[in-house]
Amino acid sequence: MQSNYKKLINIYASDILENDKYNTQKEYMQHGKTSVLEHEMNVTIYSLKISEKFKIKIDQKSLIRGALLHDYFLYDWHISDKNHRLHGFIHAKKALLNANRDFKLNDIEKNMIYTHMFPMNLRIPKYKESIILCIADKIVATKETIKRK
Ligand SMILES: [Fe+2]
Ligand SMILES: [Fe+2]
Repeated sequence: MQSNYKKLINIYASDILENDKYNTQKEYMQHGKTSVLEHEMNVTIYSLKISEKFKIKIDQKSLIRGALLHDYFLYDWHISDKNHRLHGFIHAKKALLNANRDFKLNDIEKNMIYTHMFPMNLRIPKYKESIILCIADKIVATKETIKRK
């Protein structure tokens, strides 16, 4: 099952997965021992699982690409820096700016990235794909945080 999701992700997003800048995210830690790169992959797989389990009709390609790029903020938020202090509030916008610079995004993908921190950020997810990402991100983040203990 997991490998089917990986195959699908490769079909729709090989350009992202092979991008050098995208791969620098393995240097940045997200939760515990999980890098941002791994976190984004975990969230993408979980988002696909949610859409399948609840039989939600979605744009699979956009769901995959938006989820893979949702935390593309490109810094280590654990390193103290005055710009990182508000990480929870600012990183979605930063990720969108970076992703839009390095990849071609459609409206669904842009909205997914920009609103994924709802309700911490009061930007309401507009598409089914955005809502799924928002939920998957929180569940996966919790799992990754618990796992490190
Ligand atoms: Fe995030
Ligand atoms: Fe995330």
